Amino acid sequence: MDAQTIALVQTSFEKVAPIADLAADLFYTRLFVLDPSLRPMFGADLTEQKKKLTQLLTVAVRGLSRLDEIVPAVQALGRRHAGYHVKPEHYATVAAALLWTLEQGLGADFTPELKTAWTEVYTVLANTMIATQSEAQTTTWVPPTKSHIPQAALAVAGD
Ligand code: HEM
Repeated sequence: MDAQTIALVQTSFEKVAPIADLAADLFYTRLFVLDPSLRPMFGADLTEQKKKLTQLLTVAVRGLSRLDEIVPAVQALGRRHAGYHVKPEHYATVAAALLWTLEQGLGADFTPELKTAWTEVYTVLANTMIATQSEAQTTTWVPPTKSHIPQAALAVAGD
């Protein structure tokens, strides 16, 4: 990610920050229009969720120039998302809702260049999350088989 992309995203995010509550409302409304089947994954009251998402995005956007420092937190977030039953394909729907929200919030300032910059940033975050999610799912979902039992234990059990 180059310095120009980071600067574009950070400057635009500062412009959306004062209307964060409205932006969060727009985001979730749009998300559930795009895919109503996602609604039950979230609790009935989205108030806390909206705050967390806004805070997380603030930290992520401010941390873009020190991406290596925020990677562990993004990985942990990805692992938690496996627990929320989020699937890799859901990330594209969230991307669409996010880009649409930015377009509403920024109007004419949401240039094609800015859209590309945000897409790049989201892709880095989402791919980091998805990578850990598939690890978590593999370790969670593989059913125990005899091959997981140490050979020595089998030998003792068979005696
Ligand atoms: C870059 C992408 C994403 C970011 C930054 C993000 C951020 C967050 C944050 C900060 C939380 C609060 C809880 C926690 O920290 O564990 C959360 C919860 C959650 N997220 Fe995401 N998320 C992303 C993608 C997605 C996707 C693709 C889905 C799929 C629909 C999703 C569904 C959820 C659900 C269901 C919860 C829990 C809600 C609850 O407990 O009521 N997220 N997310």
